[in-house]
Amino acid sequence: MAAEKKAVFIIFGGSGDLAHRKLYPALYGLYKAGILKEHFAVIGTARRAWSDNYYRGTVVTSLLDIDDDQEKMQAFAKHFFYQSHDVTDSDHYIALKKLASKLDDQFETDQNRIYYMAIAPRFFGTVAEHINSEGLKTSGYNRLVIEKPFGRSYDSACELNGSLTKTFSENEIYRMDHYLGKQMVQQLTRIRLKNKTFEKSLNNKYVSNVQVTLSESLGVEDRGGYYETAGVLRDMIQNHIMQIIGAVAMDEPAKLDSESIHEVKREVFASLKDLTPDEVDKNFVRGQYGEDITGKQKAYRDEDNVDANSDIETFVAGKVEFDSERWGGVPFYVRSGKRMPAKSSRIDIVYNDAAEEIGIRPNTTVTILIEPEDGSYILVNGIDYLESNQDIIKFPEKEDYFDHAREAYESLMIDILDGNQIHFTMWDELQNAWKYVDIIRQKWDSETPDFPNYESNTMGPDAASELLEKDGNSWVWAD
Ligand SMILES: NC(=O)c1ccc[n+]([C@@H]2O[C@H](COP(=O)([O-])OP(=O)(O)OC[C@H]3O[C@@H](n4cnc5c(N)ncnc54)[C@H](OP(=O)(O)O)[C@@H]3O)[C@@H](O)[C@H]2O)c1
Repeated sequence: MAAEKKAVFIIFGGSGDLAHRKLYPALYGLYKAGILKEHFAVIGTARRAWSDNYYRGTVVTSLLDIDDDQEKMQAFAKHFFYQSHDVTDSDHYIALKKLASKLDDQFETDQNRIYYMAIAPRFFGTVAEHINSEGLKTSGYNRLVIEKPFGRSYDSACELNGSLTKTFSENEIYRMDHYLGKQMVQQLTRIRLKNKTFEKSLNNKYVSNVQVTLSESLGVEDRGGYYETAGVLRDMIQNHIMQIIGAVAMDEPAKLDSESIHEVKREVFASLKDLTPDEVDKNFVRGQYGEDITGKQKAYRDEDNVDANSDIETFVAGKVEFDSERWGGVPFYVRSGKRMPAKSSRIDIVYNDAAEEIGIRPNTTVTILIEPEDGSYILVNGIDYLESNQDIIKFPEKEDYFDHAREAYESLMIDILDGNQIHFTMWDELQNAWKYVDIIRQKWDSETPDFPNYESNTMGPDAASELLEKDGNSWVWAD
């Protein structure tokens, strides 16, 4: 049985969508596992005037999809308190401080605090600064959790980081990237360390190319307003895709701890091959979905809250390269888009003929499925590795790497309570990712694209396939 953790959570944006869809179910998962038990409290804050009881009712409602044990859900909800709070009003932090201190005493939480920003990004700096100026930090631990987007560009990310670090040190900041909470991404490093042939194979001697795809079948649905300010490059490539590439490309860490992993990740992001504006057109493709073939599914430009002439991209494919001894010359093809034929998150590692010298058969591709398959798994040449008779690359038995198939937010919440930053993004990694992506953004912002350029329910614009064909390669997942 896991040890009980003690903390007061202060959730800024406690009445919002993220809190109800992800955070409360994740905290409930921890409650059911006994990780949260007696010594925790949650303060939800937002401007609207809710009572504790009303708030608790919304918390229980958010759990109905995952449980029907009313007694347990009600007992869990008793740990929740609501504070009407405008994040721009200093006086409200004084009331918040009082409530948090009272709950520290009542629930004996050792004055541990987790501040969770489930609120619009423009408020992140304001909240952090008020936590400092109104003296909310305690003698227990104080951890700040911050959701994406972390800035809109390199400069704005630096500015945001500057405002957070006036109050919180780097080891108190947990930058969420929920892909780093997914089982298969988390297990990748462990699988690499356990499987020597696999680890030995990950370099430019044996790998022809690596492909990372995060595709969605849905369009923007009701999030057109948000999407108009983001686009796939900021929403998926700068954070999730870059972090997944980092997990594949990093060197073997000395140990499986946060410091060792971030040390090798830092190096890999620092070795991203410089991209010039002229290379953007050669190495990156952007797209925006039109209607589907039947005309039943709307084009992006016809979605609610989307400009009728919008230039926002809903698809990106690109070739990322590293200037390193290990990976020099190996293209990492990345791709993410909406309205593609299926939802899929996968990594495909394509081997070359030289890999035969370490026992990997010709034409081998190792595919790591991150989602949506339940629990995810590894394919060798498209077949579940357990049945593939692939006798050289041996992965650990499934039970070894899926001890607890937890939902991403649940697993990341445990890391936060443990003070473990292993699966969070550190500032230096983020900085280098932003520098890289900014070159693409600036080039694209200076030109008008010919949109829409792919039909809904297709694999994106033709140029995405041509990008690989130019190198004599092709997408492994090609529908
Ligand atoms: N939803 C997701 O799946 C998701 C996924 C990844 C990242 N995120 C990020 O998570 C954050 C929250 O997103 P969301 O979808 O949950 O948004 P949301 O549903 O609009 O919730 C925003 C929350 O902020 C509160 N709020 C707004 N202005 C406030 C103010 N001046 N003072 C205090 N509270 C204020 C709102 O309540 P009141 O109006 O009552 O004040 C509400 O509780 C954003 O940064 C978003 O980018 C969300």
